[in-house]
Amino acid sequence: MEKVTIKEVSKHLGQDIQLQSWVFNFRSSGKIFFLQLRDGTGRLQAVISKNDVSEDVWKVCEEITMESSVIVTGVVNEEKRSPFGFEMQVKDIKVLQVAEEYPIAKKEHGIDFLLDNRHLWLRSERQATIMRVRDEIIWLMREFFRNEGFVLTDSPILTPTSCEGTTTLFSTEYFDETAYLSQSGQLYLEACAMALGKVYDFGPTFRAEKSKTRRHMMEFWMLDAEAAFMQHDENLKVQEKLVSYVVVNILKSKKKELKLLGRDTKFLEKVKAPFPRMKYSEAINKLHNLGSDIKEGEDLGADDETMLMKEFDQPVFVTHYPTKIKAFYMQPDPENPNQVLCDDLLAPEGYGEIIGGSERIWDLKLLEQRIKEHKLSQKDFEWYVDLRRYGSVPHAGFGIGLERTVAWICGLDHVRETIPFPRLLNRLKP
Ligand code: 4AD
Ligand code: MG
Repeated sequence: MEKVTIKEVSKHLGQDIQLQSWVFNFRSSGKIFFLQLRDGTGRLQAVISKNDVSEDVWKVCEEITMESSVIVTGVVNEEKRSPFGFEMQVKDIKVLQVAEEYPIAKKEHGIDFLLDNRHLWLRSERQATIMRVRDEIIWLMREFFRNEGFVLTDSPILTPTSCEGTTTLFSTEYFDETAYLSQSGQLYLEACAMALGKVYDFGPTFRAEKSKTRRHMMEFWMLDAEAAFMQHDENLKVQEKLVSYVVVNILKSKKKELKLLGRDTKFLEKVKAPFPRMKYSEAINKLHNLGSDIKEGEDLGADDETMLMKEFDQPVFVTHYPTKIKAFYMQPDPENPNQVLCDDLLAPEGYGEIIGGSERIWDLKLLEQRIKEHKLSQKDFEWYVDLRRYGSVPHAGFGIGLERTVAWICGLDHVRETIPFPRLLNRLKP
């Protein structure tokens, strides 16, 4: 008997096949059982008629509960009236395990209950669909970088220093030393860029940010990219090309999934490089005109980002932030050293910042000065400073947050549904 997945049934119509699956729903009408099966690849209805099966098989059916695991043998045919397009007539059924009463029933549950049961909630069609879109986005990003000649050089997770400020570090014992969980692989990528030219990394990153917003997680996945000899303008070009590549292709390859998620793709369809650009100072002026009370020199908050993006249907770059509110490694603008050659890419529809990037300081003296100003220990950063001692070159890069990108593309109102097991403020389980 051939074992077939639900995704493949159309190639086996009329043949005896076997499905290894779970029962996500069922009903009976006296002489007929309807089992709704899922196997990870798809969903299908299987029909068991009392007259067609042995008494033993019928008895087995009566024991089946929601989420029981079953091996079903039968013949699949096209069924136009079914939402699945196909239907199986069952000849035999073997129950691997009769599931206990499933806690996630059809009724509405609160978000805390669902997150407590995330290990089960993932089985729902909606959650599994989001995971598929996430997977596709990862592959598209990797494909983009591969096509562009970037080499994957993953950065360490256990690190001796901070990258994005010392206030959001998670620390852990590392024998006799203290290690910090990486906030971004950037500093290590800079070293790899000096060895390989164009590089990227992709991995989990950690921030002990006491932020309970729909955009913040304590653990999230970031893809950082870095290139030697690349400067501000080219950095932005790579970013908009990457985002366009992902959006254009996801609309083709995951059309069905986005529809299932109820995503209105009207805005996504407009995404096309080049993206509008504005300097931080322009953004502040615009915000003042829109009625915000943000002060010059403050970082844009989530509400400011949303307000600013109201008039745009494309992602927008905000560049040239004040030096004093940005990271120690950012290259000052030669025309105005009080601002840096950096960019935040804001997604439309209120999704906020999805990318942060900048040109990096490549002058030895200036970098040493900044390390002092930021009260970092020069000793810890000696290896990073070395990159400015041995053939220093201008270079730039950026990091794109995977979960925020997935939330935007899927049209979700919170990042907690974009990762299998979210780590949120006050949530470490399951
Ligand atoms: O803007 P960030 O902090 O930039 C960096 O870490 C740079 N070192 C990257 C680089 O230049 N290689 O973070 C980059 C992106 C943000 O734009 C956002 O999408 C995401 O990472 N991000 C978060 N996502 C979820 N939860 C959080 N707490 C996040 N913090 C940042
Ligand atoms: Mg940022």
